[in-house]
Amino acid sequence: MAALIEARGISKLFAHRRSWWPGARLRTRALDDVSLTLARGASLGLVGESGCGKSTLARILIGLDQADKGELLWNGRATTRFSRVDWRQCWRQVQYVFQDARSALNPRHTLRQILSTPLITMLDMPAPARARRIDELLEQVGLERDFLSRYPHELSGGQGQRVVLARALAVKPQGLILDEPVSALDVSIQAQILVLLQELRDQLGLSYLFISHDLAVVEQLCSEVMVMKDGRVIESGPRDQVFGSPQQAYTRVLLNAAQGKDHFSSVLGSDHNSC
Ligand SMILES: Nc1ncnc2c1ncn2[C@@H]1O[C@H](COP(=O)(O)OP(=O)(O)OP(=O)(O)O)[C@@H](O)[C@H]1O
Ligand SMILES: [Mg+2]
Repeated sequence: MAALIEARGISKLFAHRRSWWPGARLRTRALDDVSLTLARGASLGLVGESGCGKSTLARILIGLDQADKGELLWNGRATTRFSRVDWRQCWRQVQYVFQDARSALNPRHTLRQILSTPLITMLDMPAPARARRIDELLEQVGLERDFLSRYPHELSGGQGQRVVLARALAVKPQGLILDEPVSALDVSIQAQILVLLQELRDQLGLSYLFISHDLAVVEQLCSEVMVMKDGRVIESGPRDQVFGSPQQAYTRVLLNAAQGKDHFSSVLGSDHNSC
């Protein structure tokens, strides 16, 4: 069966019109010949320092931005001529939890409204079915029913991230693209959300593209790893290979930086085979 998402040779250049020199154009090569496959049931970790192009790649994969070069396939179909309807089908299949999604929750909406929105707009679900689905979602992410009348500012960071996950799961996707889902959280809350992500994946059979600048986090959750630097993939492979015998000096630097963060291991357990 074809992969959920396949990207081949993706490049993206950003041109900044404003510059200190009149008429000059600054260019950023955000992505340079990047290829990636998100197979069904896979947990792929995309790791690299700030500004290396992770979110740009995610936005291109999900059709929110266009590559300058390269090919993008969903379920084996080239996306070049995709209509809005085609993309909406893709978004039901794979939901994108964008970086800082928690702070973008509508502050004037209660959680009931926030969770209802995708059920109405994407599934056209009638009220009784909606109420049942919302109960199910709350249970999946570990929130009590009385949270439904709360507003986003009445939530802690971890609770907010649970809401973001519930909203993404509302349409029963097969996969999630998670852009730095735990980086803004305290370490102990990070560990709880990572446990939840593991449980959800095992329960629902989800595929993950998990984006992080933190190798320790990726190691806990992902069975495949891609390391990016300056818009290029410099190393990729099974987790044990990348972590056990990194080929690139840069990967070793990231690994060293991640050392001392094995507090996650104690919370999550050391059974890597669960990925
Ligand atoms: N819309 C844009 N216009 C111009 N430059 C952009 C735009 N979006 C991203 N960039 C540039 O592209 C590069 C990659 O940015 P990107 O946000 O993809 O990095 P990232 O790896 O997600 O970083 P972080 O870990 O901080 O989220 C950066 O140099 C950034 O400044
Ligand atoms: Mg980013």
